[in-house]
This record gives sequence, C-alpha cells and structure tokens, in this order.
Amino acid sequence: MSNTTVLAVVSEIFPLVKTGGLADVAGALPAALDAEDVEVVTLIPGYPAVMKAIERAETAIAPYKSFGGHARVLRADAGGLDLFVLDAPHLFARPGGPYTAPDGTDWPDNPFRFAALAKAGAELALGASPGFSPDVVHAHDWEAGLTAAYLNDAPRARPGTVITIHNLAFQGQFPAELLGPLGLPDEAFSIDGVEYYGMIGFLKGALAYSDRITTVSPTYAAEIRTPDFGMGLDGLLRARGMAVTGILNGIDEDVWDPSADEMIEEPFSLATLANRPANKAFLQRKFGLDPDPGALLLGVVSRLSWQKGQDLLIANLDVLDRIGAQLAVLGAGEPTLEQALLAAADARPGRVGAKIGYDEAIAHQIQAGADALLIPSRFEPCGLTQLCALRYGALPVVARVGGLADTIVDANPMAIAAGHGTGLQFSPVTAEMLGATLERLARLWAEPEVWDRLIENGMMTDVSWRRPAAAYAKLFRDLIAERRLSAKPSIS
Ligand code: ADP
Ligand code: GLC
Repeated sequence: MSNTTVLAVVSEIFPLVKTGGLADVAGALPAALDAEDVEVVTLIPGYPAVMKAIERAETAIAPYKSFGGHARVLRADAGGLDLFVLDAPHLFARPGGPYTAPDGTDWPDNPFRFAALAKAGAELALGASPGFSPDVVHAHDWEAGLTAAYLNDAPRARPGTVITIHNLAFQGQFPAELLGPLGLPDEAFSIDGVEYYGMIGFLKGALAYSDRITTVSPTYAAEIRTPDFGMGLDGLLRARGMAVTGILNGIDEDVWDPSADEMIEEPFSLATLANRPANKAFLQRKFGLDPDPGALLLGVVSRLSWQKGQDLLIANLDVLDRIGAQLAVLGAGEPTLEQALLAAADARPGRVGAKIGYDEAIAHQIQAGADALLIPSRFEPCGLTQLCALRYGALPVVARVGGLADTIVDANPMAIAAGHGTGLQFSPVTAEMLGATLERLARLWAEPEVWDRLIENGMMTDVSWRRPAAAYAKLFRDLIAERRLSAKPSIS
C-alpha cells in the first residue's frame, strides 16, 4: 500500500493535451512516483480532448456553482492516467488550445478558468471527494497557482503545498478588481499574498503561500534568484530561502525509446547503431534535403519564441553554408520566426528544410535522424529535447543556461581527452558564440572516433525519471514530517 498521496494540479498533461514540456512532466511523473510509493492523482480541466478520452468515470464532487456556470469533478481514467477532471463546460468546452482561442489570442476569461481549476484543487485537498485525502498538493505553474491561496484560509487542516515553476516568464497577472470575483479575501491582496505591483499574480501568490517551491533544474533555481532571470520575482524567491529547490526533469523512457519507437523509420539502440543512418536518410527525404550521408545534419524541435533563441540560428545561416551543414527544423510559434525559417528553406533548397506546426511523429524522426540537435535558448528552466537527443544519439548543442547547463557535459578538449563529454555548450548566448560553436561542431564531425564516443556517452546517460522521482518523493516526505512536527502541541 502506498503511504503518501499527492494531488497534482496542472493545466496540460501528455498524452491528452500538450503545448510543451509541462505536459510531458505531468504525464510522466505519476508513474515514476508510483515506484517510490507515492500515489499521484492529477486534477486537470475538462477540455474537449480530455472529455473524449475518458474511459471510465465516477462523480467525485457533485455539481456546484463555479464562476458563472455549473461544474462537477469526475474521478476518471484516461490515457492511462488516474485523474480528477474538472467538468465545467462554460469554461472548457471550446475549440482552440488550452489557453488560447482558435485565432491564437488568450481566452479573456482565463483568470476564471484557472481559478476554477485551483478552487477545485483546494476543495479536493480538503477532502471534498470522499475517500481521497492527499498529504501534499503539488501545483504546476501559474495556472494552478491559486490553489495555495485558496487553501491559505482553509477552515480545516490542509495538506502540505508545493508549487513547481516550469517557466517564470508566464506569471498569470490580472487586474486587482478581480479579487472579489475570484473569491479571494481582501487580506490576500498584500505583499505576502497575491498582490504584485498593483495586480493579482497567480504565480506570485503561489510563491508566497506554498510551503515549498521547486523548479525544474538546479541551475534555473539559482538563476531565478537573480535580476537577469528572475522576471521581477527574484526578490521574493531570494526571501523564500531554503524553501526553493531545483529538481531536474527526466523523460518518459517508454515514449522516448529508440529501440521500440514506432514513429521512426528504423529502430536502433547503442548495440544496433548501424540501423540509425536509415533514419537520417528518411529525414533528408522528408525535409527535401540532399541525400548525402556524409553531410552534418542539424535538427531543431522547438516552440518558436524569443526564449528559444531561434533568431540566433537564423543569423548563422551563412555559417551553415560555410561548414556544409544541413538543417531540419520543426517548430511553431511567433509568425516572424516561422516566416524567416520558411524563407531560409526556400533560399537553400536541399540544404535547409522547415516544417511549421506541431507534430509528435516528426519530433521523434528528427531526434532519430539528425546528427546534432540545436537548442540556443536564452533561458531554459530544464528543457526536454536535449534529453531526448541524448537518448536518440543526436549530439545536443546547447546554450549554457538552466537545465541545459545541468544535463549536457561540454566536449571541450580536456573532457574529450578524459573520455567525457555528451554535447556542446556555449556562453554567452549570442549569435557570434553560436556561430563559433557551429564551427567547433563541424571540426568534431570531422573526427568520427571522437564523435562516436560522445554519442555513446550520451546514449548511456541516465535521462529517466528515476532520480528526479526519488528527489520529489523525499521532498514530499520531508514536508509531511515537518508539518506533523509543527502541528504537535509543544510540551512545557
Ligand atoms: P518547452 O516546454 O519550453 O516548450 P521543453 O524542451 O521542456 O520546452 O519541451 C518541449 C516538448 O514539446 C518536447 O516534448 C518536444 O519534443 C515538444 N515539441 C516542441 N515543439 C514541438 C513541435 N513543433 N512539434 C512536436 N513536438 C514539439
Ligand atoms: C517549461 C520550460 C522547459 C521545461 C518544461 C517542463 O516549458 O520552458 O524548459 O523543460 O517547462 O518542465
């Protein structure tokens, strides 16, 4: 029998709804924690894709009024996950993405949609679903951020609260007038509560109220305490001191398994690396690149936003020409970046290929076929694609920030001499330094024995959820123990 129960609260989860790595983490962590004797049930919004995927459900919280309509909470199985689903059609039964309308703009009622999620989380935390009484509530990002705020003035003993920051750039800030409509007490609008420069900050509130704050890598945990990366919240994060820690993400080894991946041309492993080139040839065909096995083929799988630094790559197209590299890009996001990449592909037929959109299969095919994966992020809380690249034998070329700094070992001459190295890191994160690093990459490509050694090192790296899950389990248990101690009446 598992001895720790966690309620996770999150706005997206793989394989049901995904816009980025948050969904991957929410989808994979429960199974990994199960191996640590931690049972996780995850509360998510009842988007159409979620409602459609439900295989079995029962009522967990009977219909109640929530922000202008009726809601209920279901306990449901879907996509192999143990879920609570917030079924609130007036908030979630719509086309478009989890956060945006079909035209790409944020839903205007997002504060209420995610306040409803957090409120349901707080109710479940306090035992609203008979038989379910979590020891810890684990909220993810600003969308789940108000959970701790609603629990703050709970009439009964509440579970421990943990907020995980996946990206400090998204904070969920809304006008102060919404305080009452969101069901928050006047006292909450303070420097120790949700107030943030005259606005209501959903993430700010979570950082103020939660017992523990985690983020998704140790380096990002240090970076966000500085003005350069703190996005205005560095002061509060410094003030929270030891409550802030970094736990690296892993990847789901079943979803990302090159030896059993049905989306790629030819499965392979370290023992059958000779099968990998078929994937490169496939990728070259798919992206209209010259069928040259000797050309250095670079891949990109990314949201296209300032964070991800793809403009730095676009500034280096001449370097790609000079080193004779090919480029296959899969990405979606800012229209100017999308257009620049399509234009680069048009201008370099057979050398650069770009696919704009979100496509799970092509993401796997790039990991399996590219020689190197480029991740020039200006900041990166953890990053998952470099972990996939390690597992799939593509050499990660990464900016030395956040989780990228923590997960890739730079193949400098001393590391190579010592037999270490799993990729290339560069810093500062500028177009010039990326250009110089691409030249460094090309020199490595010309040394196949060294290259093969780096690929082997990468494929042997543990990128699973095992270690991270053990760290989360310890954090949850320490928090529970600490709360038990402080709840005991003192003996005088
Ligand atoms: P972020 O969450 O900041 O976008 P991560 O590296 O943590 O970055 O996670 C990105 C996830 O989304 C990975 O699983 C990656 O494969 C996937 N991904 C990103 N862009 C695309 C795309 N255009 N098509 C398919 N998958 C994508
Ligand atoms: C965010 C971050 C990314 C991280 C992911 C999952 O989207 O941008 O770095 O890997 O969350 O934690």
